[in-house]
Amino acid sequence: MADLSSNFVGIKSPNPFWLASAPPTDKAYNVERAFKAGWGGVVWKTLGEEGPPVVNVNGPRYGAIWGADRRLLGLNNIELITDRDLYVNLREIKQVKKNWPDRALVVSLMVPCVEEAWKAILPLVEETEADGIELNFGCPHGMSERGMGAAVGQVPEYVEMVVRWCKANTRMPVITKLTPNISDIRKPARAAHAGGTDAVSLINTINSITGVNLDTFSPEPMIDGKGTHGGYCGPAVKPIAMNMVAEIARDPETAGLPISGIGGITTWRDAAEFMALGAGNVQVCTAAMTYGFKVVQEMIAGLEAWMDEKGHRTLSDVIGRATPNVTDWQYLNLNYVAKAKINQDLCIKCGRCHIACEDTSHQAITSLVDGARHFEVMEEECVGCNLCVNVCPVENCITMEPLAAGTLDKRTGEVVKPVYANWTTHPNNPSAQVAAE
Ligand SMILES: Cc1cc2nc3c(=O)[nH]c(=O)nc-3n(C[C@H](O)[C@H](O)[C@H](O)COP(=O)(O)O)c2cc1C
Ligand code: SF4
Ligand code: SF4
Repeated sequence: MADLSSNFVGIKSPNPFWLASAPPTDKAYNVERAFKAGWGGVVWKTLGEEGPPVVNVNGPRYGAIWGADRRLLGLNNIELITDRDLYVNLREIKQVKKNWPDRALVVSLMVPCVEEAWKAILPLVEETEADGIELNFGCPHGMSERGMGAAVGQVPEYVEMVVRWCKANTRMPVITKLTPNISDIRKPARAAHAGGTDAVSLINTINSITGVNLDTFSPEPMIDGKGTHGGYCGPAVKPIAMNMVAEIARDPETAGLPISGIGGITTWRDAAEFMALGAGNVQVCTAAMTYGFKVVQEMIAGLEAWMDEKGHRTLSDVIGRATPNVTDWQYLNLNYVAKAKINQDLCIKCGRCHIACEDTSHQAITSLVDGARHFEVMEEECVGCNLCVNVCPVENCITMEPLAAGTLDKRTGEVVKPVYANWTTHPNNPSAQVAAE
């Protein structure tokens, strides 16, 4: 049986599935139930500095995007950090850690961007015997307007400075949680690395408006006729998060920096993909909020079964395995040729592939043959773009088949070459010509 045990920056947990800092980790009641359900660890809902608790809105704080079957695809929220008293949280954290010594318990923090504020809170968290801290530099609403959260995460110099303060003032491992609301995620990751962070975690939520009520003309979620941007998360953000994880994993300046992957993870497969791209473990929020804590059981069983089937014995057999295969466009093999192929036994003759290819791609799929509906790829027109595969409602009905080296590409009239060749040396590339001269 595959061993799912995880050691992330020295923090051990029986599996790599942690709950992200959010409502599921807001209090002992939730976290105890999450641990009973099987979660390997949690990042406690972000704590702020001592003083009057944060005030949340008293109306809708969530908006959503659904698929056609009403499955939740994206969730948006305007919630702030914890609105419970700091000392109540600290007492609960201490008790929960005592009750569950084998689970990871990391505390998320967000205090003003002055060293005294960090110096004041760090010993309080240390006293709970929590396993580590996560710096919330990502929250994009409410707190950022007060100079915290994403307002720090968007300025690499601040990221480095606060990480340095934390490293200087605590023995606990420091995980720096990054905001995706930035054009180049590598910059804050490098800054966190330079400041001495033990790891980065990403992504926090993405600035978003999920809808507009066309009767009242108010953005959703609406509070008394007005709305504001919220943080977007859930399955819809997974591709954005995975790209950012890969960017950091393959950046020479941050290569090897541990990454906790977050964003839309709902199944074991999502988790395995994040880990393959370089995440050492994963964190989950929306899936738990949508399906409840027991969703972790499918994640554990599924990951174990897949690892057993593939012969992966430990997580290190999976972590980072896809990272070297992420490259820049210019290094893709231009001698690789694939053509779409339709399985006539699976085809339900809906015609979607034909319309998509006819109207927006390369007019490479028939619709009528001898007066009857028949959908077939004309190899001499197909550029192998994959659009038909993506619009076909029947899984695996259309597949992309690579042409073997030496076969004739009927579209170009050229034989597929057996060698790898990319844009950097292509004759049409002006820079390649200059380099050759
Ligand atoms: C309602 C809600 C509240 C959140 N609160 C926090 C928070 O206090 N601190 C934090 O670091 N992230 C917070 N997050 C972000 C999540 O931890 C996580 O980064 C994000 O939701 C992406 O993961 P997901 O797609 O699995 O939900 C919150 C998310 C939601 C939905
Ligand atoms: S792969 Fe692209 S070009 Fe080829 S048949 Fe499909 S949609 Fe048309
Ligand atoms: S989209 Fe798929 S099912 Fe529909 S006609 Fe094309 S191949 Fe057949």
